[in-house]
Amino acid sequence: MTHQITLIPGDGIGPEVAEATVRAVEATGVAVEWERVNAGVSALEEYGELLPDDVFASLAATHVGLKGPTATPIAGGHQSINVALRKKLGLYVNFRPVRMLPGLRTRFSDLPINLAIFRENTEDLYAGLEHEVVPGVVESLKIITQNASLRIARAAFEYARRESRCKVTAIHKANIMKKSDGLFLKCCREVAAQFPQIEYNELIVDNACMQIVTRPEQFDLLVMPNLYGDIVSDLAAGLVGGLGIVPGANLGDSTAIFEAVHGTAPDIAGKGLANPTALMQSAALMLAHIGERDAAANLQSALERVYASGRHLTGDLGGKASTCEFTDAVIDYIGVPQSTAR
Ligand code: NAI
Repeated sequence: MTHQITLIPGDGIGPEVAEATVRAVEATGVAVEWERVNAGVSALEEYGELLPDDVFASLAATHVGLKGPTATPIAGGHQSINVALRKKLGLYVNFRPVRMLPGLRTRFSDLPINLAIFRENTEDLYAGLEHEVVPGVVESLKIITQNASLRIARAAFEYARRESRCKVTAIHKANIMKKSDGLFLKCCREVAAQFPQIEYNELIVDNACMQIVTRPEQFDLLVMPNLYGDIVSDLAAGLVGGLGIVPGANLGDSTAIFEAVHGTAPDIAGKGLANPTALMQSAALMLAHIGERDAAANLQSALERVYASGRHLTGDLGGKASTCEFTDAVIDYIGVPQSTAR
């Protein structure tokens, strides 16, 4: 069977990591017809629009996307591409698994870090409702609804049950934002009560950040509103080697877009230095999502073996390999049985 997948290469290092990931996915032997569409600054230059309609038309047909990072110009009043995609397509779950790769030396590599982060993906301060009240005073609205809070909590607990995760921690600031974060917590508690076999606790976001860097191994699954999720994911990425590593998935009821946590990395764009691991791990999640579980496991295992060998690391992890050399190493391991020494 041939899978139709929308490919949005994106901006900055996006096209480099996207191309590397396409090569790795194709090396697994899964048949994919990629529908390439442009979004971001590249689309603005080509079509005069950051997010052209053909992106939505393609996703309406394929229901699955692999996306590189995109830049949204700060000036010009453009809505963020990611926010627009997530809202319009109802991608209400942002799932980010944070795991230590074997062999990778970080400050935390002796700890068994295996976190699942569930970030609400459609509202909170990301609603983008801002206005100038009077010159010098700006108001930004934080929107939290029962509907969105219940569905992210349900997604988190259902995942925990399916993947045998034992503990869910809701992250909040309800001591200050008693109504908005208070509603989020109320919804989490309501869902937690339906999963008595899963331990449930709550942590204020500032304390959570401190504990994630002092005792990350105590956490299992974290669920939180949008903005905390954005910040906590980058923090957690730092534990396991940085932004070049951590994958992500934006999930809705009918469409899913897989993308790395990182941005366009303008400081290294176009130099062949980007680490494609995060998008490759996102592609492994995507392969599992479309039912290609063997290919997903194959790609993930190839990545892990490249790290375990300690050779071919990219510059962000202290190595000298280019994006292309790293990708060649991953492809060399794809399809090679685990026991084969290299
Ligand atoms: P960034 O993630 O692009 O870069 C932060 C640092 O991490 C930089 O030093 C960069 O070189 C490094 N880095 C990131 N990914 C890497 C990789 N794969 N390999 C090696 N090093 C890597 O974050 P920044 O600088 O805050 O944002 C740059 C742009 O990206 C902004 O326009 C922002 O809006 C956009 N962005 C887009 C996202 C998306 O489309 N999903 C997510 C986050 C940011």
